[in-house]
Amino acid sequence: MEPRGCPHSLRVLLLPLLLIGVCGFFQSHAVEVDIKDSSNATCLYANWMMRFLITYETNTGDYKTTTLNLSSSVTHNGSVCGNDTQAAFVAVQFGEGHSWSNNYTKNNETYQGDFVTFTYNTNDTAVFPDAKRKGLVTVVLRDPMPPIQLNSVYVCHSTDAIEAENVTQIFWNVTLQAFVQNGTVSKKEFRCSADTPTSAPTLVPTVANVTTVSTTTLSPAPTTAPKPVEKPAIGNYSLKSGNKTCLLATVGLQLNVSQDKPLLININPKTTIADGACGNTTATLKLNDGNSTLISFAFVVKNTSASAQKFYLKEVNVTLLNRLNGSVILSADNHNFSKWDAFLGSSYMCQKEQTLEISEDIQVHTFNLRIQPFLVEANKFATAEECIADSDLNFLIPIAVGIALGFLIILVFISYLIGRRKSRTGYQSV
Ligand SMILES: *[C@@H]1O[C@H](CO)[C@@H](O)[C@H](O)[C@H]1NC(C)=O
Ligand SMILES: *[C@@H]1O[C@H](CO)[C@@H](O)[C@H](O)[C@H]1NC(C)=O
Ligand SMILES: *[C@@H]1O[C@H](CO)[C@@H](O)[C@H](O)[C@H]1NC(C)=O
Ligand SMILES: *[C@@H]1O[C@H](CO)[C@@H](O)[C@H](O)[C@H]1NC(C)=O
Ligand SMILES: *[C@@H]1O[C@H](CO)[C@@H](O)[C@H](O)[C@H]1NC(C)=O
Ligand SMILES: *[C@@H]1O[C@H](CO)[C@@H](O)[C@H](O)[C@H]1NC(C)=O
Ligand SMILES: *[C@@H]1O[C@H](CO)[C@@H](O)[C@H](O)[C@H]1NC(C)=O
Ligand SMILES: *[C@@H]1O[C@H](CO)[C@@H](O)[C@H](O)[C@H]1NC(C)=O
Ligand SMILES: *[C@@H]1O[C@H](CO)[C@@H](O)[C@H](O)[C@H]1NC(C)=O
Ligand SMILES: *[C@@H]1O[C@H](CO)[C@@H](O)[C@H](O)[C@H]1NC(C)=O
Ligand SMILES: *[C@@H]1O[C@H](CO)[C@@H](O)[C@H](O)[C@H]1NC(C)=O
Ligand SMILES: *[C@@H]1O[C@H](CO)[C@@H](O)[C@H](O)[C@H]1NC(C)=O
Repeated sequence: MEPRGCPHSLRVLLLPLLLIGVCGFFQSHAVEVDIKDSSNATCLYANWMMRFLITYETNTGDYKTTTLNLSSSVTHNGSVCGNDTQAAFVAVQFGEGHSWSNNYTKNNETYQGDFVTFTYNTNDTAVFPDAKRKGLVTVVLRDPMPPIQLNSVYVCHSTDAIEAENVTQIFWNVTLQAFVQNGTVSKKEFRCSADTPTSAPTLVPTVANVTTVSTTTLSPAPTTAPKPVEKPAIGNYSLKSGNKTCLLATVGLQLNVSQDKPLLININPKTTIADGACGNTTATLKLNDGNSTLISFAFVVKNTSASAQKFYLKEVNVTLLNRLNGSVILSADNHNFSKWDAFLGSSYMCQKEQTLEISEDIQVHTFNLRIQPFLVEANKFATAEECIADSDLNFLIPIAVGIALGFLIILVFISYLIGRRKSRTGYQSV
């Protein structure tokens, strides 16, 4: 294995866990940006850690997921303080042509992130070995950070992740203040909800010693989390294209992670954010449960020339992150599904529990599923095509009636036979 980078597929589990642990710790560096105004006073301050999981296509047509960490040499050219009229801007450049930026606006009470822009360079062969597409790829998305009171500092030690266009951006240990007043970073903290004690660290206990991770702890499977026996709550998710809803989903989700011990994780719809993209022939729904679990579903339209086209679920990806440091605990992907199919213009429904096998160790259970990834009109589900499991009951009734009738006929036949034999014996005895 090459000493540099951990670019190898995260799809194969377990073995890379060790690598990820080690790489994660040795190759992640905190970024600090401290911008001064004309009077040499701090006007924008940010200190954070981040990492990117990027799925790219290789020359052989496979998809690989690689990890891009920040190198030790990060520049912050182009960062500006901003004022009432101009947005504040944090921009960093690192590695072989990668860059990340975020702009912030304020009103009279709060400041807020506007857009996150991430550009990666697939020419960086250490990170993107064998990439088919060479050059810069840019991902732009809205910053999910809530509005923060002016003159307070945003702090989030827990891991937060945002996903868009084949990239998962992972942040942790974030301290940020835009529009700093009087040159001093405020003492007033705004803590992200994930840092609050009620949502205590999950999945993996604090890793105090890296060396210990690589030698003894090969069981990142959580042992402390209680096993939820109840069914997951049902969530309603949607995506928009412009101001039109383009994808609708209703589903209860439960992960079954069985590395050393089986573990069920219910996805909490209340904390889950939907993201993704709609297209004419492909659509992706990405769910981030705000608790370091990321699940994405990719749908495609079947390549048929028939006038009545169908769509189906093609790919599901599950990633579990360590909430404390953003390292990947597990990442699994199955892009060979051919499930949940229905005619374009209708929705797919399956009330019964369904299981999607992502890998040997990860399954996704769905409950009360209804989904429409294409041609959503007026923010409503179209007619549903139901899964066979659901219609079971319906065709069980005729079967039951059939069986009952069959029994009746047999019964009548047997009575007839007995009757005949009786009468025959009657004759003989005479
Ligand atoms: C700004 O302050 C730093 C130390 O706080 C000092 O080294 C630097 O020379 C100052 N720059 C200007 C332009 O005053
Ligand atoms: C805001 O900053 C820009 C550039 O730094 C400057 O040109 C502009 O005059 C400033 N506006 C105000 C209202 O200070
Ligand atoms: C922030 O950056 C995005 C992307 O570069 C841009 O579209 C947007 O207009 C910027 N926002 C402000 C307020 O400048
Ligand atoms: C902030 O601006 C809004 C309108 O944009 C106004 O209603 C509000 O009173 C202002 N708040 C302060 C503290 O000035
Ligand atoms: C990437 O490499 C290609 C040639 O392989 C070159 O044409 C292109 O300019 C490079 N792009 C960047 C951003 O380095
Ligand atoms: C994202 O991945 C899909 C396949 O999963 C691929 O078709 C698409 O080109 C990728 N997009 C980018 C920007 O790499
Ligand atoms: C900044 O300084 C001014 C006067 O120097 C003071 O009135 C104001 O309260 C200070 N603001 C903060 C946030 O410390
Ligand atoms: C971390 O591991 C090293 C080597 O095993 C050991 O020397 C050191 O004491 C450990 N540190 C802590 C804090 O346990
Ligand atoms: C949003 O919808 C309104 C009508 O509901 C329409 O007039 C407007 O053009 C739409 N905006 C976009 C960006 O699609
Ligand atoms: C998607 O479909 C719409 C409506 O049929 C069409 O206007 C648009 O050009 C299509 N987009 C692509 C990328 O094919
Ligand atoms: C986060 O996940 C853990 C373990 O799965 C669970 O116990 C906890 O309730 C979750 N927290 C939230 C806010 O969903
Ligand atoms: C996060 O920051 C705290 C203090 O700011 C530090 O003690 C801790 O080591 C950092 N965690 C990671 C994973 O870097």
